[in-house]
Amino acid sequence: MTDQILSFDEFDDLHAPERQQESEFQAIVSRRSFLKGTSALGLTAFVAAAGLPSKKAMAKTVSGLSFQPVAANSTDDITVPPGFTSQVVVRWGDPLVSGIAEFDHATRGSAATQLLSWGDNNDGMDMFVVDDGRTVLVCNHEYTNIGVTFGNNPEGKPVSDDDVNKGKAAHGLAVVELIERNGQWETVKDSPYNRRITPDSEFDVVGPARGSDLIKTAADPEGVKILGTFNNCGNGSTPWGTYLACEENFNSYFRSSEGEAFQQTAELKRYGVAPKGKERGYNWAQTDERFDVSKHPNEPNRHGWVVEVDPTGRRMPKKLTALGRFKHENAEVTIAKDGRAVVYSGDDERGEFLYKFVSVNRYVPGGDNWNLLDEGELFVAKFDETGRGEWVSLNGAGMSADETMVFARIAASKVGATSMDRPEWVAAHPKKAEAYVALTNNSRRGTEGQAVNAANPREKNVYGHILRWIPEGGDHAATTFKWDFYVMAGNPTIHSDVYAGSSNITPDNMFNSPDGIKFDSEGNLWIQTDGNYSNAKDFVGMGNNQMLLGDTETGEIHRFMVGPNECEITGLTWSPDKRTMFVGIQHPGEKKNSHWPDGGNLTPRSAVVAVRRTDGGLIG
Ligand code: FEO
Ligand code: CA
Ligand code: CA
Repeated sequence: MTDQILSFDEFDDLHAPERQQESEFQAIVSRRSFLKGTSALGLTAFVAAAGLPSKKAMAKTVSGLSFQPVAANSTDDITVPPGFTSQVVVRWGDPLVSGIAEFDHATRGSAATQLLSWGDNNDGMDMFVVDDGRTVLVCNHEYTNIGVTFGNNPEGKPVSDDDVNKGKAAHGLAVVELIERNGQWETVKDSPYNRRITPDSEFDVVGPARGSDLIKTAADPEGVKILGTFNNCGNGSTPWGTYLACEENFNSYFRSSEGEAFQQTAELKRYGVAPKGKERGYNWAQTDERFDVSKHPNEPNRHGWVVEVDPTGRRMPKKLTALGRFKHENAEVTIAKDGRAVVYSGDDERGEFLYKFVSVNRYVPGGDNWNLLDEGELFVAKFDETGRGEWVSLNGAGMSADETMVFARIAASKVGATSMDRPEWVAAHPKKAEAYVALTNNSRRGTEGQAVNAANPREKNVYGHILRWIPEGGDHAATTFKWDFYVMAGNPTIHSDVYAGSSNITPDNMFNSPDGIKFDSEGNLWIQTDGNYSNAKDFVGMGNNQMLLGDTETGEIHRFMVGPNECEITGLTWSPDKRTMFVGIQHPGEKKNSHWPDGGNLTPRSAVVAVRRTDGGLIG
């Protein structure tokens, strides 16, 4: 049964949300112009292993963090370099409060236990110091793996109402206080900060869609309060100490009671909601009628936003509708020269776009900035073939302000945005005006109206790439920029053409599908992968998903960590003293070939691990 359950990506690929048309300007770029374009950008070698020498020795990075790169492997464990340790801090189903049973491998918990325990599939996260110095981790729980979460059921999927509600409660966010004792990190059970934010929690609505007819429902006739956040993928955090969680694949949770007869509107089609009346398999509509689009047609419009959360829990979280509605990967916040807040966010779907929000008001250090992201202008990126680009305002789409935000994808198409290879995380350099986006892969590039373009130059881009831009005048609020590629992933052991990757890819550091990217405080770029871990064919020699460290000055990339079987590495943050790095291990054993971290024959569980140097030194 479980084999029939599609991944989010497969679900969307099968049902193909209506693909936007590209502008004539971007379409039909030949491979010749791709090569011309890349050499103009300084990426001279798309040839096998022609770049950096093999790095077997200690690698140095810009911060002085030295480590011996680890080899690719397919071991059901975490691998870190000699001189580093990793420790599991918190796992799916670990109770956040007393009185809740420990995770039961036989039942895999119930709706009641899950509601007060660490959620499933931890993703983006950040650590905050609050009040009198407590360290609080806020973390996204993106989704659940049906075959794992419900692997105890003979049907291998949610059947009873409790199953459905357990799966739902495994989504959302968790907030937990952590403490370091004797060199180990542990959760503080019953801390007043510990809580879950779930698909049923209440959110305020701010921005242009507040009060819009497009988000009004029977339960919320004013369009001002929304229940729930779910499929929270990447994240962001603000200089004013709040957490941003991004709602990504919200579409495939909705179905129609009309079944196959259901007719999608053009907007539902563009967002991939309820194709042929179908959802992916969580059955939330079984216990919550909101997820039946025939009964509540505006409910999907209430999801697909960035939400802002006060880590202390003192303020009601809110949906930031000024940042637009799409499949937000993460939300990278930086401050423009004049103090306005800038938030970059990618829309992770084949051929979708890269966005930037610029606030109207200015960040006031030490002041109350809680309303700063309520009001601003949303732009979308357009990349040209000469290595330049511009941010085009969605205000030019000719739609009303609320429509523009609710249907941001449609507005962005109207203003001529560049179709991208699945924009995942954006990372802004902490020491200079420069930003990076991971374009994870796009097997459809070169087909179905997704012609190659200068910024997405490879047909059938199975390996992905990372693109970077420098805003004009060193100001993130500028509307023009220069861009180039930081890396084209590839496999130089089996290819000698563009699929070998850029010159900074070697047999020793190759990987596929960059997804999470984040800078540490020293300006090192950490790269996490969510790719094909078959270790075969195009991906031979790459092993399990991994985390690498990139030097953005020299282009060097070294593998720092390899995850257990069938996991993805996603989510990264640091302790306040920068001596611990917290790394997320998501969906180990998604195809049932892992028992990490508990071993034996036990159920695999997503978890956060603490990585440290054995000499206690800085790690970012
Ligand atoms: Fe949830 Fe695009 O990764
Ligand atoms: Ca991701
Ligand atoms: Ca991904």
